[in-house]
Amino acid sequence: MKKRIVIFEPSGLRISVSQESSFLEAVRSVGLHLPSDCGGGGTCGKCSIVLRPAPEPTSIDEKYLSSNHLAQGFRLACQHRVKFDTRAVIPEPRRKAKILIDGLSRLESWEPDSGYEGQFGIAIDLGTTTIVAYLLALDSGIQVSQLASLNPQVIFGEDVISRITHAVREEHGSSDLKNKVVEEIDSLIESLVDVSKIILERISRISIVGNTAMHHLLLGADVKSLGVSPYEPTIRESIVTSSSELGLNSKHNIEIYLPPNIAGFVGGDTVGFILSQRLDLTEQIIVGIDIGTNGEIVLSNRGDLSCCSAAAGPAFEGATIRYGMRGQDGAIEHVAIEDLEKPPEITVIGDVTPRGICGSAIVDTVSEMRRMGIIDKSGRLQKISSRISEDGDFGLSYLLVEVPSKSLKISFNQKDVRQVQLAKAAINSGVSLLLQEADIRVKEIDSVMLAGAFGSYIRPESALGIGLLPPVDKELIGQVGNAAGEGAKALLLSSQARKIASDLVSKIKYIELASHDDFQSIFLKSTSFP
Ligand code: FES
Repeated sequence: MKKRIVIFEPSGLRISVSQESSFLEAVRSVGLHLPSDCGGGGTCGKCSIVLRPAPEPTSIDEKYLSSNHLAQGFRLACQHRVKFDTRAVIPEPRRKAKILIDGLSRLESWEPDSGYEGQFGIAIDLGTTTIVAYLLALDSGIQVSQLASLNPQVIFGEDVISRITHAVREEHGSSDLKNKVVEEIDSLIESLVDVSKIILERISRISIVGNTAMHHLLLGADVKSLGVSPYEPTIRESIVTSSSELGLNSKHNIEIYLPPNIAGFVGGDTVGFILSQRLDLTEQIIVGIDIGTNGEIVLSNRGDLSCCSAAAGPAFEGATIRYGMRGQDGAIEHVAIEDLEKPPEITVIGDVTPRGICGSAIVDTVSEMRRMGIIDKSGRLQKISSRISEDGDFGLSYLLVEVPSKSLKISFNQKDVRQVQLAKAAINSGVSLLLQEADIRVKEIDSVMLAGAFGSYIRPESALGIGLLPPVDKELIGQVGNAAGEGAKALLLSSQARKIASDLVSKIKYIELASHDDFQSIFLKSTSFP
C-alpha cells in the first residue's frame, strides 16, 4: 500500500501513513488532539482541519462547514483519506479547559489509617474528560497540593463508547488507551511531587476512582461487555495492586487502590460520591446526580441506597448541539433573555470573543427560551421575534449572538432543542423511576445534590426551568463540586472507607432503566417542558 506524508501545522509533526488512512487517524497517530465527538462517524462535524491541497468537499463536509470555511480548505478530518502528501493545519490549538477540582466533602468523618507517619498519598479522579490528582499527607489527611489535566485518551474519542470501540476493534486498542492514561498519571505524580518539594519515595499510596470504563481501560481489562447489553463490568470488586503492576514509572512500590464498580455504567466514581457525602448514613431523602454523557443518579432513602445510570448523551457537553463546545475559553457559559428583540445577555469563559456555547449556557438558553415563550411545552420553536428565522435543515433558529469579526452567528435551533429534550428526559426519568421504586414523592425529597463539572456550573433555576431536575424548591438544590474526587481522598486515607465501599456494592440496589417496564412511558412524559 502506497504511503503518503502528512505534515501538521503549527506543530511541524510529520507522519507517513497509508493512503487508506483518514486524516483523523493520522492526527491520532501523531498524538495530537482534534475534537471528534462521534468518533469519526461523520455525524458531529467537530473534526474540521485545513488541508492543503484540499480534496473535493463531500456532502458531509457541506452539511457541517460554511461555504466560507470550505473555500479556505476546511474539511472534516474523518471524511477524507490521505490520497496526497498534505499539509494539515489544526486551526484551534487545545485551549485551557475549565476543570472542576474542588468539592464539598466530609473528609473529617474518616480517620486516617495509622502507620503512615511522614508519608504521602495521591487521590485521583480519573474522568472521561479530565484527570484531577490531589496530594495528601497520609497521617493527617491534610491536602498539600492538587493538579488537573485533560485525559489524553480523548484522541481516541471524546466519550466512553468511542474508547470502548477503539479498545475492542483495534489490534493494540486496549494498550493504546492504557498507555496514554498511565503516562498522564505518571506525569501528574511527577508534577505533584515537584511542586510540593517532597521526594517520590515518600508517596506510598494512590487511590483512583473513575467510571467503570475508565477503570477497566486503566487496568487493561476486557471492555467488550461494557459495549453490549446488559453492560456488565468485567471487574466488579475493589482492586489493590501496585505501581509496577500498573506500569507506572516509580522505582519503589506504591500501593494502588481502586474501589469496586456497581454496574457497567455506575463505577467507583459514584462510590466516591456516595462516600464523600455520606449518603449511606444520612437520615434524609437525598437525590444525588452527576450529570455527564451518562448521568449517574443515586437515591438515598434515609441511608437505603438505589442507583441507576441515565444515557443522557453528549448534548450537555456541547456535542450534538450545532454551536456546542466544551467549557473552555470562548464558550458562552450563561445566557439571560430579557427582551425578545434584543440580544440576550451572555457571559463568556475567559472574557474573549464567543466561539460557541457550553453546557451551562445550553441549559440557560433552553430555560430562557421556554420562559419567554420562544418554545412551547412540546419544545417547538415559535416565530415570535425577528431574532428567530428559518435555518434550512435545522428548522427555526434563535440568534444568540453575532460575531461580525469572525462572520459567525451563534444560534440555537429546533434540532438543538430536541437534543436537550432527550438528554433532560433521560436524567429526569432516571430520577422518577428511582423515586417510584422507593415509593417516594417529590415533595418528600429533602435535598438534590448536583455533583461534577456540569452540575456545578449550571444555574439551579435553569435546570428546574427545563425539567432536568424534579420540581423541588430551588433552595433544596445543592452543588457539591467534584464529589468523586473527595471520595477518592477518603479511600486514600481510610481502610474504614474502603470497607464501606466494598460493602456498598452488595447493599445498593441497581436499577437498569432500559429494561424497566415503565421506562418508555416515563421517558416520553419527561420530554415535554414544565
Ligand atoms: S469525528 Fe468527524 S464528524 Fe465527528
